[in-house]
Amino acid sequence: MEHNPLHLLIVEDDADTRANLRDILTLNGHSVETATGMADVLSRTAWSTFGAVILDRKLPDGTAEELLPHLRQVAPEAAVIVVTGFGDLDGAIAAIRHGAADYLLKPISPDLLLSRVTRIAEHRRLALEKSELEHQVRQAEKLAAVGQLTAGLAHEIGTPLNVISGRAEMLLERMAADDPSRGDIERILVQIERITKLVTQMLNFARTRPPEIRPIGLLPLVQEVLALFEHQVRSHHIAVQVDGSGPVSTIRADPDQMQQLLFNLLHNAIDAMPDGGTLTIRIDRTGPRQEGEDATDGCYMRLEIADTGVGIAPEHLTRVFEPFFTTKAVGKGTGLGLAVSHRIVQNHGGRIEVKSEVGEGTVFSAYLPIEPEVDGAAESGRDE
Ligand SMILES: Nc1ncnc2c1ncn2[C@@H]1O[C@H](COP(=O)(O)OP(=O)(O)OP(=O)(O)O)[C@@H](O)[C@H]1O
Ligand SMILES: [Mg+2]
Repeated sequence: MEHNPLHLLIVEDDADTRANLRDILTLNGHSVETATGMADVLSRTAWSTFGAVILDRKLPDGTAEELLPHLRQVAPEAAVIVVTGFGDLDGAIAAIRHGAADYLLKPISPDLLLSRVTRIAEHRRLALEKSELEHQVRQAEKLAAVGQLTAGLAHEIGTPLNVISGRAEMLLERMAADDPSRGDIERILVQIERITKLVTQMLNFARTRPPEIRPIGLLPLVQEVLALFEHQVRSHHIAVQVDGSGPVSTIRADPDQMQQLLFNLLHNAIDAMPDGGTLTIRIDRTGPRQEGEDATDGCYMRLEIADTGVGIAPEHLTRVFEPFFTTKAVGKGTGLGLAVSHRIVQNHGGRIEVKSEVGEGTVFSAYLPIEPEVDGAAESGRDE
């Protein structure tokens, strides 16, 4: 059986050949759709799922060379294997010239067909892994660069900021109660406060403190952080459900970082429901996250924050964990909340996932190891 199953389209006008090809491929774990000719192919729309197309060179209503430019355009990711009659090597060469990845001669040998398809599947898997890896490296580099830059910047900004706010406060104290300039100075102080908050947030982000691991109850922590949002929850008419009815919610983790994680996720969920909705927080145990992961059942605590808010557009979904990615108005979001959350979960040896439907809502799931193995984690140390 094939371990990298592909989704394939077979384009073949002969019903017997079509059924034959389909059986060979599905028996080997691939999923198959079929088309009977050029018109049938041209009328299709959902191309993104196809990993390969098996295309008969001579169709009743056209040839492979006529179809290939269209396929390259609508399904650039799909590899096309052209099937030609015996002795039609010229046709095969023409097809390759038009962008086909490979060719097969009739009558098709099942072994040959399967080995070609397996090769394409393997290619595809490697290409996907490579782009995923490149993405991760780019993220890590971005994060490291951002971290260094912000730590330096935040430090440099801090000192003059202190002087400015100190002087502004002094001016305010010296001013008569009815001085017309009071309002201006007060406005300056408000804006300084805003910068200070941003700088603190950036420093939080830049700091790569290893987690200080100790036992904490997630459920009480959820209640604690929820209390901070009491006002928004009430004024936005948001119903809150907490489901932590599972066994116990105790894990070993860094309390400050867990608090920050919860804060960021709850903050986003509430922001996503300006016209009300339901906020659901679930805590439960799950088994190993992936096949082959060497662990026993119930070794992760899943923390799920679900909202019925605006949702996240598919093209944004892959970017939400990027530092500085935000769709919020200037001054409202820095785009660091989820980048920080991602890093916190990762530092605990866990992972965080997101699912979202525009107009339906969003679910963030953090999987946290109940007993994390954290490099250099201070058991009970206090310093930083
Ligand atoms: N629950 C959610 N529902 C809808 N969109 C969300 C949700 N959570 C995150 N997002 C989207 O992801 C973006 C990034 O989120 P993130 O928390 O990193 O930054 P932010 O909320 O914009 O700013 P910050 O958290 O730094 O104040 C948001 O701007 C928003 O577009
Ligand atoms: Mg946020």
